[in-house]
Amino acid sequence: MTAKLIDGKAIGKRIREDELKPKVEALAKHGVVPGLAVIVVGDNPASKVYVGQKTRACEEVGVHSETHKFPEDVPQAAVLKRIAELNVNNKIHGIIVQLPLPAQFDMRLILESILPAKDVDGFHMYNVGGLVLQTGDDGAENIFPPCTPYGVQRLLEYSDIPIEGQNVVIVGSSNIVGKPMALILLRKNATVSICHIKTRDLAQFTILADILVVAAGVPNLILPQMVKTGAVVIDVGINRLDNGKLVGDVDFDGVVKKASYITPVPGGVGPMTVTMLIANTVNAAERQSAQQRVANQGQAGSPAL
Ligand code: GUN
Repeated sequence: MTAKLIDGKAIGKRIREDELKPKVEALAKHGVVPGLAVIVVGDNPASKVYVGQKTRACEEVGVHSETHKFPEDVPQAAVLKRIAELNVNNKIHGIIVQLPLPAQFDMRLILESILPAKDVDGFHMYNVGGLVLQTGDDGAENIFPPCTPYGVQRLLEYSDIPIEGQNVVIVGSSNIVGKPMALILLRKNATVSICHIKTRDLAQFTILADILVVAAGVPNLILPQMVKTGAVVIDVGINRLDNGKLVGDVDFDGVVKKASYITPVPGGVGPMTVTMLIANTVNAAERQSAQQRVANQGQAGSPAL
């Protein structure tokens, strides 16, 4: 068996063209341009790459984006002040703080200072809690799901891969990928297991997976003998090897012969993360402009004093 490639680059582009651009055009009729503010502290080289990708994708879809850069040693209060300003800026519908933050920052305090309605990374406790309680028909109606696991969900759906009743094994239990991934697929009625760094005998779990999602940050962690024949393998890892090559967490050349579907690295999950950030930002703009219109109507209809 040779696995079919799930081409996240192409699927991301299709979603931006067919789904997001029409929504941006519809908002334009109400005089609204979705706006995203990206806060970057210090000069982490990986963050620079990610922020560049986000900015380009925003431009392509017609979303306004602005980057707010701070030096590595900026006082935390200055960043909190900027977030407070962006929270009340009605041209900005989404705010993200690029992670990781320098060590002197209290990451939770910073993330919790973003208005949940503008938290398009889905990292605020309100949005995490919403994911646990699973409000909304598709799990994404009232909250913002974190972009990477949301992107994986969309990749599976776009490829017509069934989720309900499937054995899903997630390798990695981070707040950004593993945990929200489990909640999103649980919502879709999968049977979900989460493995992590303390899991004994990882292969004993991975071999049972109909859908294996790997987000551990360890090159070649998943070898062909750990994968069931015909499994769907989603590689969220992005690792730069000493020779400069970018690889995932899965031994691609080995596992591609055993899986039914596999995501490449690069060009698999990565482009979906950026697309889902834009999807959340457009969604935020839709919700905020609808609320604004209701508020304006209320004002127009109220008796003059
Ligand atoms: N750093 C690594 N991944 C992410 C992400 O999805 N969002 C933000 N803000 N920072 C990150």
